[in-house]
Amino acid sequence: RIAYVNGRYVSIDTPAVAIEDRGYQFADGIYEVCKVVRGRFCDLERHLDRLERSLDAMGMPMPMSRRALALVMEETWRRNALPDAVIYLQVSRGTAPRNHAFGASMRPSLVVTVRAAKFPSGAELEKGVGVISLPDERWANCHIKSISLLPNILAKQQAAKAGCREAWLLDEQGRVTEGSSSNAWIVDGEGRLVTRPLGREILGGITRSVVIELAKRDGIEVVERAFTLEEAKAAREAFLTSTTSLVLPVTAIDGTPVANGHPGSVTRRLAELYAEAEG
Ligand code: PDD
Repeated sequence: RIAYVNGRYVSIDTPAVAIEDRGYQFADGIYEVCKVVRGRFCDLERHLDRLERSLDAMGMPMPMSRRALALVMEETWRRNALPDAVIYLQVSRGTAPRNHAFGASMRPSLVVTVRAAKFPSGAELEKGVGVISLPDERWANCHIKSISLLPNILAKQQAAKAGCREAWLLDEQGRVTEGSSSNAWIVDGEGRLVTRPLGREILGGITRSVVIELAKRDGIEVVERAFTLEEAKAAREAFLTSTTSLVLPVTAIDGTPVANGHPGSVTRRLAELYAEAEG
């Protein structure tokens, strides 16, 4: 596997990042995950828009122009010769002697890696997956795609230990914010799609924005509001979305089956529309 690191293409196991890179020492950086399906980059402009917003929120400059970034991503992808791939892009604030405060003129570090895409299996899409609920212990700026992911990885690990795919995180009112690495959705009793509105409590998923558009175009009503864990457990359907999980039915929450425990029709329709759009 070939990675891009600050101007060079190197083998993935080359030690190529500085010890005092602030990404390494402080998790002072942001990232993007996007996918290539049969040689086509999906939603690249939306990912670059979000990258710019995250960098802006952190007071970091773009490491290079959008055009140049897209070229680097394409070239890294090309060198790995994988038609279906997941592209990871990370920008850290740069390298400097360790000090919490940072200087004004730091040069950001850019790393791009590529791996084979591992999307949910046919069986997972057909059966659905389980999630557990946990308190959301993250910070107050979850709309920034920061590489500081300690609460997320600990939540995901607990889910994995419980034999579940994802952890749905709860705010202090018992409402679901999102998953540890995906957005959370339910279908209510009227067949409406419900997902938390954009705000500091969630990452504005690219898949989320695509699914909202696809649903509306298909005549499915979308309501952006917070929903409680109880509502989710009693919902007609539930599912999660992310670049790598696609539209994935959630058929159990904390061991309670959602409806009859099988993926619902609205979820399956959206999965189909998403596969048509991005497959
Ligand atoms: N995770 N919420 C969180 C906290 C996420 O980390 C992600 C994505 C999403 C969904 O965003 P998108 O639809 O743009 O992938 C929501 C990526 C895939 C990751 O960390 O690997």
